[in-house]
Amino acid sequence: MGLLTHLSLLVTDLDNTLVGDDLSLEQLNHLLDRYRQTYGTKIVYATGRSKASYELLQVTEKLLHPDALIASVGTKIYLDSPDNKLVPDPDWENKLSENWNPEKDPEKIRGIASRFADLRLQDNTEQNCFKVSYHLSVAVVDAVLPQLQDELSQQGLDAEIICSGRSSQKTIYTGKRKYNLDIIPRGGDKGRAMQFLRKRWGIDPSKTVVCGDSGNDISLLKYDTERGIIVSNYHNDDRNADSELKLWHELNPMNHHYLAHTDCAAGILEGLKYFGFLE
Ligand code: GLC
Ligand code: MG
Repeated sequence: MGLLTHLSLLVTDLDNTLVGDDLSLEQLNHLLDRYRQTYGTKIVYATGRSKASYELLQVTEKLLHPDALIASVGTKIYLDSPDNKLVPDPDWENKLSENWNPEKDPEKIRGIASRFADLRLQDNTEQNCFKVSYHLSVAVVDAVLPQLQDELSQQGLDAEIICSGRSSQKTIYTGKRKYNLDIIPRGGDKGRAMQFLRKRWGIDPSKTVVCGDSGNDISLLKYDTERGIIVSNYHNDDRNADSELKLWHELNPMNHHYLAHTDCAAGILEGLKYFGFLE
């Protein structure tokens, strides 16, 4: 496969986007390595996982070392250091703290959310001072969301609620599908974190590709004209369940967005060809 026009930045979600098809991932990694060597292309992972959870994935999957990791749905940015460690970016934390009190606001949110019986707090490892995360069953999501958003606003919290996982597997406990629900500062999502890095590195949106499959990836595509690849998710157990991202794309189709026919890394390769980054 030949490299075509200059690709400066590739930002990709991990679960069910970059990861999920080992053979295609190997092919894509090989290509991205060549891009790095030829053009100095930057590679960034943007995941809902915490850094600790990302490190677990690193053990089982063959992942290239990224130039930066956007973790915890955008609320954390880690930059590569000269000794190949991923270190927190203090500038991003400072930015998020402008309209958010990291000491008090998570507690306030837990107080409000405790009045909603359907919200189940996720594990402690997935919580941080800019992210309060819950599980919620799909059946009640439409009833709970607007009410929760109202309560948060009434308490003066400038928070964004992000839902993901509509098409993900059923929980082992209930056999029902569930959402992941993340409450984060407005402007602390994956998309804003991606733009923060892109601008710092002086990279144009037209030389940037963003890739995702679910709800917390919508922000990667919605703010500007970065080239967006939505990978298919047909490998999931429930083929009728379209992801939030796919539904969003159907309502907001744009020329610089591409819905792939194939899953995971194969979908990314397909999209890179579509946008002319690859022949
Ligand atoms: C990851 C995180 C979880 C989050 C979900 C969706 O699974 O571990 O906390 O809710 O992504 O963003
Ligand atoms: Mg995903």
